[in-house]
Amino acid sequence: MSVGIDDISFYTSNFCLDLQELAANNGASAAKYTVGIGQDRMSIPGADEDVVTMAANACLPLLEGMAERGEQIDTITSVLFATETGIDQSKAAGVYLHKLLGLSSHCRVVELKHACYSATAALQMAAAMVVRKPAEKVLVIAADIARYERQTPGEATQGCGAAAMLVTTQPRIIELDPETGVHTEDVMDFWRPNYRSTAIVDGKYSTKVYLRSVRAAWQDFQRQSSLLFKDFDYFCYHLPFSRMAQKAHTHLANGHKHHMTEDDLSEQIDASLIYNRITGNSYTAALYIGFISLLDHVADMVGKRVGFFSYGSGSVGEFFTGKLVAGYEAMLHTQRHQTMLADRQPISYAEYVEMYDFQVPTDGGTHDFPQQTNGRFRLAGISQHKRQYEAR
Ligand code: HMG
Repeated sequence: MSVGIDDISFYTSNFCLDLQELAANNGASAAKYTVGIGQDRMSIPGADEDVVTMAANACLPLLEGMAERGEQIDTITSVLFATETGIDQSKAAGVYLHKLLGLSSHCRVVELKHACYSATAALQMAAAMVVRKPAEKVLVIAADIARYERQTPGEATQGCGAAAMLVTTQPRIIELDPETGVHTEDVMDFWRPNYRSTAIVDGKYSTKVYLRSVRAAWQDFQRQSSLLFKDFDYFCYHLPFSRMAQKAHTHLANGHKHHMTEDDLSEQIDASLIYNRITGNSYTAALYIGFISLLDHVADMVGKRVGFFSYGSGSVGEFFTGKLVAGYEAMLHTQRHQTMLADRQPISYAEYVEMYDFQVPTDGGTHDFPQQTNGRFRLAGISQHKRQYEAR
């Protein structure tokens, strides 16, 4: 039975900070960011944006597509919400989204966590679930806000975004293979204790562990699958920043290159980096926004094979693969993504600092948040410790 992604879209905040502006204010050279880590801009969430609003906004094109095609919303029977920017230790973020989107009361909802990796766990679980009940759809969501201490090396690798995908049998975008390669290893490269709002990171070490994980997950994949490096047309990597994928691809290709030039290797990943360069890291969503970037920038991909490497610090890495199906182009939301990105508002360094410093009040009182997002869904405020969401 064929299983995979039937529809996929993403959303990011409507504010962005140019990294040249960051460089001008923190003493770094702009080239360190634009060349050294390969980032141009990063999305910054406004006060009325969080993982719930970003996720709900990412789901809209999928639900509108279902409505246009006359598909019933109650065929979505599960929501698997992957995030490491949870808003509550107990209640799943997906339950707020369930209400905002008007999903069926018979749809189960759960939140998953393992750093940037958990959306891939959600995708694999969703694939197994729809095999059991082929008439049903599982909505997989990845949504995060990447946040580091200001004036630290991690600061330039912030960003935010959400990706939403419908996982079904007979998918209309990409069929996923059951064989995957996994590497799990207990390391302290990046983590965020419950009492902190920013991650603690051993940056250079984290890039080394990422590379080790790529190689180990690939080796496990080789034990599970007969596919070789030369059987792949494109690769999508977890994208903390775009240079990381370039390094990972060189590292993985080493020993498999045969007749491939540097340009051939670049062509296998370049299109997947375009959105990340201007949105920044979005943790769980980054790999999937990379895949959307590939779909939105390369034509005629029917039958092409894509290799995916998902990485979550701490660490879990998984290599998996799929093939684009005939007619996938009709399911894409390219215009919508590009309009959203083109309409973003560049902010000054001072505005960035103000947004960075905004904290959801913890006093239990009633607070309305300024209207900043352009998205359909927003976090209107908080009252008695209850988040108040609204659809505009
Ligand atoms: P840093 O210390 O600021 O940067 O940290 P650097 O000094 O290593 O420079 C970065 C690169 O820029 C170097 O190139 C420099 O040579 C180059 P490389 O040696 O790596 O090829 N450079 C320049 N290039 C051109 N012109 C110049 C110039 N100056 C320097 N003038 C670091 C960089 C990525 C470590 C930091 O930003 C950081 O800690 N980021 C956060 C952690 C991170 O993103 N780790 C990635 C792997 S872990 C992961 O992906 C998981 C994660 O997403 C979390 C999760 O799973 O939930 C993070």
